[in-house]
Amino acid sequence: MAEKTISLGNADSGVDFDVMSGTLGPDVIDIRKLYGATDQFTYDPGFTSTASCESKITFIDGEEGVLLHRGYPIDELAEKSDFLETCYLLLNGELPNKAEKDKFVHDITYHSMVHEQLALFYRGFRRDAHPMAIMVGVVGALSAFYHDSTDIDDPHQRMVASYRLIAKMPTIAAWAYKFSIGQPFMYPRNDLSYAEDFLHMMFAVPCEDYKMNPVLSRAMDRILILHADHEQNASTSTVRTAGSSGANPFACIAAGIASLWGPAHGGANEAVLNMLGEIGDISNVASALERAKDPDDNFRLMGFGHRVYKNYDPRAKVMMATCHEVLDDLGINDPLLELAMELEKIALSDPYFVDRKLYPNVDFYSGIILRAMGFPTSMFTVIFALARTVGWVAQWNEMIEDPSQKITRPRQLYTGETERTFIPVDKR
Ligand code: SDX
Repeated sequence: MAEKTISLGNADSGVDFDVMSGTLGPDVIDIRKLYGATDQFTYDPGFTSTASCESKITFIDGEEGVLLHRGYPIDELAEKSDFLETCYLLLNGELPNKAEKDKFVHDITYHSMVHEQLALFYRGFRRDAHPMAIMVGVVGALSAFYHDSTDIDDPHQRMVASYRLIAKMPTIAAWAYKFSIGQPFMYPRNDLSYAEDFLHMMFAVPCEDYKMNPVLSRAMDRILILHADHEQNASTSTVRTAGSSGANPFACIAAGIASLWGPAHGGANEAVLNMLGEIGDISNVASALERAKDPDDNFRLMGFGHRVYKNYDPRAKVMMATCHEVLDDLGINDPLLELAMELEKIALSDPYFVDRKLYPNVDFYSGIILRAMGFPTSMFTVIFALARTVGWVAQWNEMIEDPSQKITRPRQLYTGETERTFIPVDKR
């Protein structure tokens, strides 16, 4: 029972509501009985002040720029862990011991092949199809192949579906790229790590051995960790909403991919590169910032700002360091990196951005690294979706196991017409 209550509703009919406290972060007012007690709804477009669920997976302190996965800071995981170990942590709540880790890595590795008929799906797309369109289609179609892991009330089937999704996304993603450039699909290899295998399926060809660059595979693994989960962001909320109706896990993740695609969300990494290309030169930074500040211009500084972070996104710091590592190792002097750093420096001294607490987010530097690694811009959000799949399935499982969860069905403030009589067309 909550120690605190708050009174809401009209002055003479104030109703007491419980105030609940979590382990970290703001208290919440439990308004589940609000409509029944006051005949009123809350109003919160975009849910800027609304907690949609209780969760134990990820916590963000937006003011301090802190991101914890099951209590572990993202910069520690990025430096000391690896992606599959982070996946285990997100799914199970604890870091694995050696035996648990070895079994999890084995189980994921041996689920990375897809049903051979799935390869035929790609041929139905135009060669110039955006790979995110292919991802939405192919991942949604997985439910047509894996009927034995769609019963959401069976914990074993939920675990099998979760493993299948985490394991098969690199294969599905790499094949979307191979299809777009007309190269043969590369099958996953069980002797490679998760990140190495993805790079191999992306860039190897059957005609010769692929030379793995450990700096790039380590950078890839770290980029996957940085994108793994992030509380109730738009795509995760989409997955939870789809799952709340009892939809199968493959359909839920396909819905998450669709939501992530938007340039305000996961599509921002692609939009940052396009924006930097459009700005072109440091001499155009001032005019770009003026456009970004103009309320009548829908140009935004892509990769900047965040609903929760009102400080530097901790992921962006790690991403920036990784960017320098990769470009140094490859001997690349990318003018877009210089341009991005100049843009950041000027923006962070501009009152418009400072007053609104707009800082670089995870997407600001990621595209520069991925481009240096050889990924086309159109694959950037695909990589975000690949990494975020573990966060989506962890949150999906948590939602299904939550005894208080119900089908997501918000209400509205209706400002349309009151009831009126139909007018036949000859009388209009
Ligand atoms: C991701 O939610 C997550 O956790 C997402 C994510 C994850 O890991 O899942 O972190 C991944 O989506 C990161 C964000 C990627 N998107 C972008 O980089 C696109 C550019 N950023 C903006 O579109 C915006 O900052 C959002 C969408 C990220 C956040 O928007 P909010 O919280 O709705 O903030 P807002 O639009 O209400 O902005 C507040 C003010 C407004 O100005 P005023 O009305 O006060 O005058 O800040 C301005 C906005 O115009 N503003 C910007 C800006 N972002 C906000 N102005 C210029 N450039 C920007 N980027």
